[in-house]
Amino acid sequence: MAQVASSRYALSAANTERARQAGYVDAQWPLPAIDPSRLREFQERSNARAALSTALWLALILMSGWVLVATWWSWWSLPAVAVYSALYGGASDSRWHEMGHGTAFNSRRLNDAVYYLACFMLLRGPTVWRWSHYRHHTDTIITGHDAEIAFQRPPSIVRALWRFTHVQGGLELLGRLLRHSVGRLDAEARELVPEHEQHRVVVESRVMVVILAAAVMMSGLLSSAVPVILVGGSTILGGWLVVFFGITQHAGLQEDVLDHRRNTRTVMMNPVFRFLYLNMNFHVEHHMFPSVPYHALPELHAEIGPQLAPALPSTGAAYRQIFSALRKQRNDSSYEIPIDLPTMTGGEKAIDIGAENWMRGPEGQVILGLETSLGDGELRRVDVGDRSLVVGRTESGRLFACDGWCSHQKVHLAGGAIIGEEIECPKHNARFDCLSGEATRKPAHEMLRTYPVTVSEGRISIDSPRSDSVGG
Ligand code: FES
Repeated sequence: MAQVASSRYALSAANTERARQAGYVDAQWPLPAIDPSRLREFQERSNARAALSTALWLALILMSGWVLVATWWSWWSLPAVAVYSALYGGASDSRWHEMGHGTAFNSRRLNDAVYYLACFMLLRGPTVWRWSHYRHHTDTIITGHDAEIAFQRPPSIVRALWRFTHVQGGLELLGRLLRHSVGRLDAEARELVPEHEQHRVVVESRVMVVILAAAVMMSGLLSSAVPVILVGGSTILGGWLVVFFGITQHAGLQEDVLDHRRNTRTVMMNPVFRFLYLNMNFHVEHHMFPSVPYHALPELHAEIGPQLAPALPSTGAAYRQIFSALRKQRNDSSYEIPIDLPTMTGGEKAIDIGAENWMRGPEGQVILGLETSLGDGELRRVDVGDRSLVVGRTESGRLFACDGWCSHQKVHLAGGAIIGEEIECPKHNARFDCLSGEATRKPAHEMLRTYPVTVSEGRISIDSPRSDSVGG
């Protein structure tokens, strides 16, 4: 939830420098220990599951929209407006989020299609918000660097409650779209979106403004508020649900810490909330492993839960904690919610084949291990001298080796996922073609160096990674 930022929170050059000096920018965040094969199971995408959930959401929108039109204007139309707007302007937020990560469907096109639809429902420019969310995952609740810090200190309870109306937030989003549609990008968009993509911000805003204008004209022609409520108005009417869930993610928790267990909250919610919110109540788990789709988060929680702070037992408990903390922070900005943390033993480690385990072959090639040790879709980190590689097998069974560090930021790809013939980064879900190294999904745009793999007598090998003869 971006908002007009006060001094300490503004994405200014001075604040960026302050955060960088303190070591908070692009930092390494600790991770819990997890068996790589379990992680791989959790990372699996499912077109069927995502299609079912999306179809149910859209069907409910259409049904409530139909009731709204059929009963307009009577008392029956009020509950229809309430349900329609909550699904349209509220539940779309979690769809926007999951599809933005590209983790719901196996199909990239389906993820993108629902992402654009949800962006429109929320009046969010697709490109600006994609880049804003990358930053949120890199520098979660780092002041002056994360544009999505919703509850800035000192907090105001009145402002927090006013937020639930989404009147101000909705009008700000609309104003932003209008400004962007005429080419006036705000400072945040210029800071977050790479220059070569900024023209997209303008084009997307124009398309959205034209559709909204058509709804307004239709309302004028029909002398009825229905078209505006159905298209655009429900963003504001249903925005309370975005705030209702969104507030549980980070509000009142610690700023400027490099541990998701200190600045993010997991809350146990009922099945209806979890459908509307697409399991984002498992928010610590999501921040630690953004490559795990929403449907696997409960299982991931069961797996790594003992290494996390205890989850809040209910939405009510989360609200009590949040408002108690906001009240205290109103008088003392430095107040922090006390959190007991168990030991976490994971981190960025070489997986399975460490630096000491590769061998030099008779021709000087680097032998990385037995072919049978890598199943389809498996990845391993291999450190060879001063290089760190990722070696793996695509879903179709083709072996590959490429540079292990993502070309976006310093995150190792061995913790990522194989999606078809591509490798996906575990941090911001960029993808690379395994065989060519080409960057195929944002935010990465530089390709990875690849190393031709040969298999001889059941052993996987590559030429020396230092040799000029290798590369993609
Ligand atoms: S570190 Fe950002 S996509 Fe890899």
